[in-house]
Amino acid sequence: MTDRAFPKGPYRVTNPAPALTADEQRIVADFHALYYRIWDFGRGPGTLDLHWLGFHTLKCPLDLWIYQEILVETEPDVIIETGTRFGGSAAFLAGICDLLGRGRVVTVDIKQLSGQPRHPRIDYVLGSSASAATLTQVQRRIEPGERVMVILDSDHRRDHVLDELQAYHPLVSPGCYLIVEDTNVNGHPAWPDHGPGPMEAVEAFLPSHPEFRVDPSRERFLMTMHPRGFLLRT
Ligand SMILES: C[S@@+](CC[C@H](N)C(=O)[O-])C[C@H]1O[C@@H](n2cnc3c(N)ncnc32)[C@H](O)[C@@H]1O
Repeated sequence: MTDRAFPKGPYRVTNPAPALTADEQRIVADFHALYYRIWDFGRGPGTLDLHWLGFHTLKCPLDLWIYQEILVETEPDVIIETGTRFGGSAAFLAGICDLLGRGRVVTVDIKQLSGQPRHPRIDYVLGSSASAATLTQVQRRIEPGERVMVILDSDHRRDHVLDELQAYHPLVSPGCYLIVEDTNVNGHPAWPDHGPGPMEAVEAFLPSHPEFRVDPSRERFLMTMHPRGFLLRT
């Protein structure tokens, strides 16, 4: 018996990201740059004013589709998200959990904005994500034996992301993902003048953590805001 609202298919993604020629890679990078220009990031919602069920989110729809696949395939009980903002990503994740009949979202932010979604599967934690006090709050929300996935989407400066990686990676269950968002900034290939960010944090983290590997199959829709950011805990 299952309490799923919808039956789950048997498909598992195994294809890698497509191998691209140099010309094709340039096309992807150009599209990426165009997407960022149109997005108008930092100056309001911009033209790409993206909503899930009416809640604003700062994701690329191609990545949201990948998130849906990851939730279906890895069946986390707890999805920890740092960086709530308007709550659109938490609403998306909780909605997929509803369809699966499994999982809840613990979302952390230093600010509580009005209009964030109220949903039985969303639990808000207020505090700075990498602080010991916040980590304790998050850990208290995980029951022994639960499968845990982590998404880092708060302050994208390298040192903060590295602090988050150190704090949250022990929580990730084998077979689940640690997703480091916005590894595309600082010229990878977007926002070249951002300064060291999530990609630089990932590169500093991975050599001493062989239990995590980059999963290129999650980058197969050509554009992702998280290149080398889908880390699978083996
Ligand atoms: C990119 S937004 C999150 C977007 C959201 N996950 C989405 O996709 O719709 C980043 C959020 O991180 C929060 N933030 C910044 N520094 C933080 C910190 N040290 N700890 C927790 N949250 C932080 C900001 O307040 C902001 O709401």
